Amino acid sequence: MSVHKDAKRITTQVLQEMKHNGEKIAMLTAYDYSMATLVDQAGVDVILVGDSASNVMAGHETTLPITLDQMIYHAASVVRAAKRALVVVDLPFGTYQGNSKEALNSAIRIMKESGAHAVKLEGGREVRESIERILSAGIPVMGHLGLTPQSIYKFGTYTVRAKEEEEAIRLREDAALLDEIGCFAVVFEKIPAGLAGEVSRAIHCPTIGIGAGGDCDGQVLVVHDMLGITQSFSPRFLRRYLDLGDQMYNAVQQYVSDVRGRDFPNADEQY
Ligand code: KIV
Repeated sequence: MSVHKDAKRITTQVLQEMKHNGEKIAMLTAYDYSMATLVDQAGVDVILVGDSASNVMAGHETTLPITLDQMIYHAASVVRAAKRALVVVDLPFGTYQGNSKEALNSAIRIMKESGAHAVKLEGGREVRESIERILSAGIPVMGHLGLTPQSIYKFGTYTVRAKEEEEAIRLREDAALLDEIGCFAVVFEKIPAGLAGEVSRAIHCPTIGIGAGGDCDGQVLVVHDMLGITQSFSPRFLRRYLDLGDQMYNAVQQYVSDVRGRDFPNADEQY
């Protein structure tokens, strides 16, 4: 099944080389061992253990409730599966903002207890101190600008960010800052494609877009969304590669009917 069985581990340096060589980076989320095994074997470069686990795994309305312990549990499962992909883990809400020492402790716990390769956190200048402190411990950091779901109660909506010039200027400055202080990559979520392309060309580290157009250095989607397991979420940027939700529903219905109709198990399916 595996296309990359003997392939070497993707590192932050490999991602930098990919940008340099104009090769696009493919990133997907995963939160558990089985899904991460498939995603890794299919050749994804980066697996993000996103705090979107709060939505798709735990059923919360926002990403805010997920805890550091829960993120570590998901991350350790993914790390056990990933033989090639770089595994990046979101620092959850409330574990890094406003206190750089706490940020470093949170990042250290993720690295030590899950075996992940890097952390991601949301924000620009306001989290500079936290990023610098984490980097100073040798932990690679991925930034995240544009729509930052942990600030949903500040924004009020999940609409496209940085459409107005003032916010676009701030995003340009924040991206340059994250690049300069040493983030190995930056996620751009839901910003105009032109702006994302312009900043991707201007900064040194790779940019990974979600709803940010084709000129980012790579793309990321939530795996449950692109496989069609989550069905109520259909923003314009989402390409559904499968209607797995429908297929799973039909399979489960068939199983229920087979059990009730005494068709399962049959003579070959027992001892
Ligand atoms: O948590 C997540 O899945 C993310 C991606 C949407 C980038 O941060």
